[in-house]
Amino acid sequence: MITRPESSIVNEVEEQRSKYPVGLLSRQEKDRLIERGVTGLYRWYLDRSQKTRNWNPDRTFDWPSLRTDHSPLLNHILEGFYAVEQFVPDYTSRAVDLVRESYGRSHFHLRWGAEEEKHADLWLNSLLFSQMRSPEWIAEYGETLHRNQRWTLPWDDVIHLTCYTVIQERATQLNYLNTVIIATGKSEHPELVNDADPVLAHAAKTIAVDEAAHYYFFTEVLRLYLYYYPADTLKALLNVINNFTMPALDLLKVMPDAADFEEATFRAGVYTPKQHITDVLKVALKNLGNITGRGSLSKGIKRSRLVPDPDGNMRDTALFDVFDYDAVEEAVKKIFGRIEKYEEETGLAKIYPTYFVPSGLSMSNNAEATE
Ligand SMILES: [Fe+2]
Ligand SMILES: [Fe+2]
Repeated sequence: MITRPESSIVNEVEEQRSKYPVGLLSRQEKDRLIERGVTGLYRWYLDRSQKTRNWNPDRTFDWPSLRTDHSPLLNHILEGFYAVEQFVPDYTSRAVDLVRESYGRSHFHLRWGAEEEKHADLWLNSLLFSQMRSPEWIAEYGETLHRNQRWTLPWDDVIHLTCYTVIQERATQLNYLNTVIIATGKSEHPELVNDADPVLAHAAKTIAVDEAAHYYFFTEVLRLYLYYYPADTLKALLNVINNFTMPALDLLKVMPDAADFEEATFRAGVYTPKQHITDVLKVALKNLGNITGRGSLSKGIKRSRLVPDPDGNMRDTALFDVFDYDAVEEAVKKIFGRIEKYEEETGLAKIYPTYFVPSGLSMSNNAEATE
């Protein structure tokens, strides 16, 4: 005969059970946790985006007051910005297709595309109102680009693509911040010293804030991967860094003056190889997990010998030396804390709460496992 345990005993056992699973998580569980994190973060992001960055590419800026005598170098750079940003439908559709099974990722990519689409409109206005080219020339320029070029995914898996996007968003943010320097008359380059323009400065500043928001969103997503899949993520990161080129360089190849867009950004100090190392890669690696640089990332990966188990767990101190896992854990806790706060405010916490679950890969566990 089966006897039922007393309900008081069942309750007591339930109360004593840890909220968190003990030991390592399965791949399926890690994927679920990342998905919950990304979805929660996306909903928080949408709220913030609507409240703080809801600008309009036509009405927010005083376009009729834009200067019509910018230097040829600055005009050339603005044309390049316009060209790159108008491939947004390509960027969005390819990425959405890759992440279509993830509610959070796919919805975020649509929102991201809607914000990037405004960037194309903004740069189009800068070309039209600066009047260096006729509207017909600008239309033909756009059509030629689309007729001859199509953006394709640089990587076809989610972790690699996230690494790529983190670097690309940071690089784009830097492009626009450097444009603010020119438009506020602070460039030391002789060709650009007379290019101060408050309208352009306002536009470039606004768009740089969007790029910063994108950069931080993708960094948080990548950090979730780094936390739950450290080995896969570090390897992907190194791969992407070693093969990185900005989308502009491939997309603009079809234009007759394409070769000098890269040269123009270099000459203007808008984007240089030195900035790519110090202001993009170093900053991104530090933000992500206190990784000291490409060199140490590469060395750590070379020294690591272990093969991940079927759940993708890898316990190798050489790999964990590369970055500060405890700091990553703290940062991931903060991400979930932010989501929890948002869900409390909106009532979602009572219906379907998102909460942090440790990976079980903290440094102390790791040291034991490798002995
Ligand atoms: Fe953009
Ligand atoms: Fe962006």
